[in-house]
Amino acid sequence: MAILKIARMGHPVLKRVAQPIDDPGAPEVRRLVNDMLDTLEDAGGTGLAAPQVHVPRRVVLFYVSTERAQRENGREDGEDGEDAPDEAEEVPLTVLVNPTIEPLTEEMVVSWEACLSLPDLAGRVPRYKAVRYRGLDLRGEEIVREARGFHARVVQHECDHLDGVLYPQRMTDLSTLTFASELRARAGIEVAEE
Ligand code: NI
Repeated sequence: MAILKIARMGHPVLKRVAQPIDDPGAPEVRRLVNDMLDTLEDAGGTGLAAPQVHVPRRVVLFYVSTERAQRENGREDGEDGEDAPDEAEEVPLTVLVNPTIEPLTEEMVVSWEACLSLPDLAGRVPRYKAVRYRGLDLRGEEIVREARGFHARVVQHECDHLDGVLYPQRMTDLSTLTFASELRARAGIEVAEE
């Protein structure tokens, strides 16, 4: 196991469309995932996609604690401008190989987002409020889940990495791009990097 170097915005690996994994049970996939877990734990983020550790393959992982889900879901603004507190449940540590996402609604919510590949920055990003996602686990078993709120946001953020998309490309108001330390100092908002 090892802590891997995280690619930062501007590195070509973050702009590529990552390749599917043929055999989710292959030892090299397990090794990659173990290294990604070490890397995520060391960096203190919420999620990580393989291209962020310079591996252009379609695998992501994420974990959301109950505390974090509650905090984040209280922060999201729906289209009606009201707080949209949603599911505030823990998301178990999830590894998704070759994931796909389908929106379950046209409704978007806007909230703060940050990324390990754009260290110390945050911005307000619109995401689908509810999605269904599918992927394979490391035994090749299919995972199908419906997600709302912050859970849905994390999955959309991570899967974007597999298509070479970083969150600023999803922002509709670039004036909200902010140094995380300013956000913390001025608004008391702490955003975990994904
Ligand atoms: Ni990210």
